[in-house]
Amino acid sequence: MSGDIFAGQATDPDLLAELYDLEHDPVVEDLVFYREQTRRSGPAVLDLGCGSGRLLRSFAAGKGRRIVGVDGSAALLRRAEARIDAEPLLAAAREQGRLNLVEGDVRRLGQLPLRGLLGAAGANLVVAAGVVPHLDGPEEALRMLAGVTPLLADQGRLILDDLGPALLPDRDLPLSVDWKRELRGQKIVRRSQLMRREAPEGLRVAFSTIVDVGRPDGTIARFPASYRLWYPSDDALAAVIREAGLAVEFAYGSHDLDPPNGSSERRILVIRRAGA
Ligand SMILES: C[S@@+](CC[C@H](N)C(=O)[O-])C[C@H]1O[C@@H](n2cnc3c(N)ncnc32)[C@H](O)[C@@H]1O
Repeated sequence: MSGDIFAGQATDPDLLAELYDLEHDPVVEDLVFYREQTRRSGPAVLDLGCGSGRLLRSFAAGKGRRIVGVDGSAALLRRAEARIDAEPLLAAAREQGRLNLVEGDVRRLGQLPLRGLLGAAGANLVVAAGVVPHLDGPEEALRMLAGVTPLLADQGRLILDDLGPALLPDRDLPLSVDWKRELRGQKIVRRSQLMRREAPEGLRVAFSTIVDVGRPDGTIARFPASYRLWYPSDDALAAVIREAGLAVEFAYGSHDLDPPNGSSERRILVIRRAGA
């Protein structure tokens, strides 16, 4: 299986990437958290599943001096490059070789040229925000984490940041309209459907979307896509972290550092090498 979430979809990856940004760019509530985590951790930052680079500015603002983003989607990385072009702070960092994007699979980090880009001491901060749900269960999560461990600096931290219990779907959702928007004069309607299944390793979700783009001649182009998502149980995630030689240092239920509980909207784990 490829690390590109848009691979194999009978659709246009650049359009999916653009729609993806329309939805995700308004998410800003975690930007200060990542700026501060960077400031606290140190200059070398590895952003796993960086997508279109939404978090890059936070790393740069937190004095990240060697920033590396990895993503499996070429379409999202093209949008990340455009974002860098448009932000002088990021463009200057790229110009000086201090900001690099790498197309690759987070389950095969050992095959990517990350050591050279992060510097000999390794990554002070590794971030995987919204990435674990795209992995197909504990075995794939272990492959990612086992790839992170050798890249971490001595006191380096890994942050896993995903939905908390309050935001996990508690029932199937039938096909219905999510939103209607206008993009370059074309009317866009997105419908989605969600089916959930409780499994020993957590919640499995089959999520499908249908995007209809109204063309000027009155015809409609239809772009279907489907994703299999995995929201690990606390126990399953803890077992994978242990097995990768890592240990949880802090757990938060929000980017405001609230303690986690059953009504938390996020599950944020700050992780270090075991024994570090
Ligand atoms: C929900 S998005 C989060 C993007 C970004 N971290 C943020 O917070 O805005 C998940 C990202 O993980 C990437 N991804 C998923 N599975 C991957 C894999 N196996 N290898 C590399 N990237 C992957 C997707 O392409 C997507 O950009």
